[in-house]
Amino acid sequence: MEVQSNFSLKKHNTFGIEVKARQFVAVHSVAELKMILEENKNEKKFILGGGSNMLLTKDIDALVIHIDLKGKEIIKEDDDFVWVESQAGEAWHDFVLWTIDNNFGGLENMSLIPGNVGTTPVQNIGAYGTEIKDTFVSCKAMNITTKEIKIFTNVECSFGYRESIFKNEVKDQFIITSVVYKLTKRNHKINTSYGDILAELAKNNITDPTLKDVSNAVITIRQSKLPDPKELGNSGSFFKNPILLKSDFEKIHQKFPEMKYYEVSATEVKVPAGWLIEQAGFKGKRFGDAGVHKNQALVLVNYGNATGQEILAVSKEVQKTVFEIFGIHIEAEVNVI
Ligand code: EPU
Repeated sequence: MEVQSNFSLKKHNTFGIEVKARQFVAVHSVAELKMILEENKNEKKFILGGGSNMLLTKDIDALVIHIDLKGKEIIKEDDDFVWVESQAGEAWHDFVLWTIDNNFGGLENMSLIPGNVGTTPVQNIGAYGTEIKDTFVSCKAMNITTKEIKIFTNVECSFGYRESIFKNEVKDQFIITSVVYKLTKRNHKINTSYGDILAELAKNNITDPTLKDVSNAVITIRQSKLPDPKELGNSGSFFKNPILLKSDFEKIHQKFPEMKYYEVSATEVKVPAGWLIEQAGFKGKRFGDAGVHKNQALVLVNYGNATGQEILAVSKEVQKTVFEIFGIHIEAEVNVI
């Protein structure tokens, strides 16, 4: 376990932003994590997972602790279900592919999401009609102050749309070290209700899809819309889709009848931010090395050497213009540091 000074984080954030950490250390076990926290009680600390949901706008004046805990195991099973525990530092997509290879169902719709297992509960990641909260059983997390491990159950995580207790009540207090998911061994609940998936399967004449078929369909759809961070720096959806009260939405909808929306409850609707941003004229727009992706307006991209400040400036311009046109505030989904 080597602590390095003045360490470039460019390879540790999917936006590919060049900023420096005052100090950087990668931990490979829970014991190492405990040790580094004990040795640096009074240091400012910054916890880094896969770096896939953050925009770094300045150097990090802290000890950056990169959670590189690896391993996965079946901890329990019966005829129908398997409980799999994965360490926080496993790459999410590799983990999903491993579950599919073993014919374990539940994560296939979330194929190809960047990032590591440990951050999946933090923002309750989701895609194509499935969210982590649907299969999440519990996670272990180390209290940064006491170094004790606490188990958070599904209910205790207070999951919401891209929300959890880890972004709110206990923000910056815990480090997630492993996650347990409950997956199906048979009678898989194949979820193709999301329009694009059915269309993609139909293209290949698949009527009775396997887990692998659904995963492949999701991968194809994502690759057609979302840039690969290895080729073009990005952090997935930069904004959340705004949720409006129906009463407010109806007034806006009268002015913009073509606006897309989905009902989320008896009183609320969700509006696709990508649609609002596209209508506001930003889709595919480039400002120096920062820009809005050409195939999905919800995604901001780094064409090479954009700074975090430049990407932040684009995000603010997008928010301001969307608000001027529609009177709707779109909130960032990524953490701006
Ligand atoms: N749309 C546009 N223009 C665009 C983008 C989207 O008009 O540039 C419209 C689409 O036509 C569609 C609607 O907006 O009618 C929704 O688009 P899409 O299905 O692509 O999904 P999204 O709402 O833009 C959300 C998640 C994604 C997830 C997809 C699929 C959020 C913030 N984003 O995007 O998650 O992959 O649904 O389930 O909820 C992520 O969080 O990083 C992410 C990629």
